[in-house]
Parts: sequence; structure tokens; C-alpha cells
Amino acid sequence: MKNIIAFAGSNSKQSINKQLVAYTSTLVDNVKATVLDLNDFDMPLFGVDLEEQMGQPETAYKFLEYIKSSDGIIVSLAEHNGAYSSAFKNLFDWMSRIDSKIFAGKPMLLMATSPGARGGASVLAIAKDRFPRHEANIVAEFSLPSFNDNFSDGKISNPELNDELLNEVNKFKIAL
Ligand SMILES: Cc1cc2nc3c(=O)[nH]c(=O)nc-3n(C[C@H](O)[C@H](O)[C@H](O)COP(=O)(O)O)c2cc1C
Repeated sequence: MKNIIAFAGSNSKQSINKQLVAYTSTLVDNVKATVLDLNDFDMPLFGVDLEEQMGQPETAYKFLEYIKSSDGIIVSLAEHNGAYSSAFKNLFDWMSRIDSKIFAGKPMLLMATSPGARGGASVLAIAKDRFPRHEANIVAEFSLPSFNDNFSDGKISNPELNDELLNEVNKFKIAL
């Protein structure tokens, strides 16, 4: 059985992106899905001086190992001021110092959601440009706009948007 990981680029305990990845992972049948939480991978703020003193944190190696031992990745990025959340950027920076080929060519379903109508379009564009430089194989993507209007009881409530997601999930499944 294939093994996928799903995580949000957020450390919010109520993360809407984590709710979206948790739901999306249930749509991928016949796989073992592990939903990861950045709060379980606490690490200090990246800095070159700190890195020189202590090397890279064990938790960054651990997260990278989850990626490398998976068959596919579902990620949904929180958008903070048009870019990655600090929590995700910090993890990204530390992992890039261990191995720049972070995403190891694994099929990726790349997503973002926000309470606003743009659905995290800015952070999605940044990730689409940047992740392939770290060996991301983005095979599907999805943006959920206006989260509070379109998601309730743990799932997408808008049928058109749900169909759009199912279509992307299908592309992801084929690539696994
Ligand atoms: C510091 C900060 C900056 C934000 N900037 C944006 C933004 O640029 N675009 C946007 O759509 N939402 C922005 N938001 C709202 C987030 O999309 C919202 O907090 C969302 O819940 C974040 O995702 P999460 O719940 O998965 O952490 C911002 C929120 C914070 C706390």
C-alpha cells in the first residue's frame, strides 16, 4: 500500500489549511495517509550563526525523513502577508540546509486556502515557482477561496469546488 503524508504550512492549532489537508487525505483511497502537524516539529529560528554552533536540528531531519519515505505529499500553505507562514519558512530553510532536494521528486498535490476570496493565490504562486527547484513534482493543485463560506463539518460544502478538488485528487492518485 502506498504511503502519503499530508501537512499544512501553518502552526495554528485551528489551522484551516490543516483542516483542508485532513479532509483531502480522506479522499485518496487505498493509501496509508499520515497527517503531520508542524507543532510536533518545533525548532529554533533559522540563522547561519546558530547553524554553525549547533548544526541542523534533529526535528528538521525527522520531517525530511517523513518526506523521503513517503510516496506522495499533500500540502496546503497558509498565506501570511502574501507569502509562507514563518513556521513553514523556518522548516523549509532548515531542511534546505540538510538537502536542497527537499521534496525528492515525490508527486505533490499543492494547495492553499484562506478566509479571503483569493484563496492563498499569492503563496501558491510563490510555491509553484520555488518548490520545483527543490525537486517538487507538482502533479495537481487546488485553491479553496473564502474558507468559512465553503468548508463546514470537516468537508468542502460547495459542490463545484468539491468536484474541482476531486479532479485534482484523481490526478494525484494516478501519479502515485
Ligand atoms: C500575520 C498574518 C498575515 C496574513 N496575511 C494574509 C494574506 O496576505 N493573505 C490572505 O489571504 N490571508 C492572510 N492572513 C489570513 C490567513 O489566511 C488566515 O489567518 C488563515 O487562517 C491562515 O491559515 P491557517 O489557519 O492554516 O494558519 C494573514 C494572517 C496573519 C496572522
